[in-house]
Amino acid sequence: MKLIPVTDREALSIRAAEMVAEKVQEQPDSVLGLATGGTPEGTYQQLKKIYDHGEADFSRITTFNLDEYAGMPKDHPQSYHTYMQHKVFQPLQLKPEQVHLPDGSAADLEQECTRYEKRIAETGGIDMQLLGLGENGHIGFNEPGTSFSSRTHVVQLKPSTREANARYFDSIEEVPQQAVTMGIETITDSRAILLLVFGRRKKEALLRLLEGEVDEGFPASVLKKHSNVTVIADEEALTDV
Ligand code: GLP
Repeated sequence: MKLIPVTDREALSIRAAEMVAEKVQEQPDSVLGLATGGTPEGTYQQLKKIYDHGEADFSRITTFNLDEYAGMPKDHPQSYHTYMQHKVFQPLQLKPEQVHLPDGSAADLEQECTRYEKRIAETGGIDMQLLGLGENGHIGFNEPGTSFSSRTHVVQLKPSTREANARYFDSIEEVPQQAVTMGIETITDSRAILLLVFGRRKKEALLRLLEGEVDEGFPASVLKKHSNVTVIADEEALTDV
């Protein structure tokens, strides 16, 4: 893994957006894997600036999101569909046929997982995957203990993950119990991975990632086995490294 240390969240967002834009400039039909959560928000704002300045053309990209809550309508204010519409798809004027998220409201979720995997494969696979890091080391919604050979699947969210995401909801009871997520192998099949980590809340997880063992008990550790991973981390997250 290559580590790029930066001063703060803003520097991280600028650097990450530049790397995504460079990828798209070099390969206009790139397939991008995208993430939600607080981590990539700044990156998406920077990508909008790049787009508004006419410095990158996103009209030929294809996108796949990592995950979506299960049992939630797509237009729910806290769905990842809604997040992506507001923060990426509308700002970059992406067309519906360019973008993909798992459908957490599908009647048959197992079938939805299979469909999603097939769709990714049909595009030739993901060129660059953006990732955030869960406080317990999760990537996407792959919780500790998930097999490194997992593909897109339905997960039961851990209480700690529901608590970490409760800040976006009125109460913890409203946070869904399940989600659909790309599996760990779906993620590591990406040709390049960009992991973004900032803030004190993530420093234990980052330390364990950088200095710990490769272990299914800590999903992000799988990234150490991948040949093209860049970690961009800020000073607060790197405090004890
Ligand atoms: C969430 C998402 C992950 C995300 C992570 C970190 O549960 N499913 O994809 O990377 O947790 O979230 P945040 O960036 O808000 O800290």
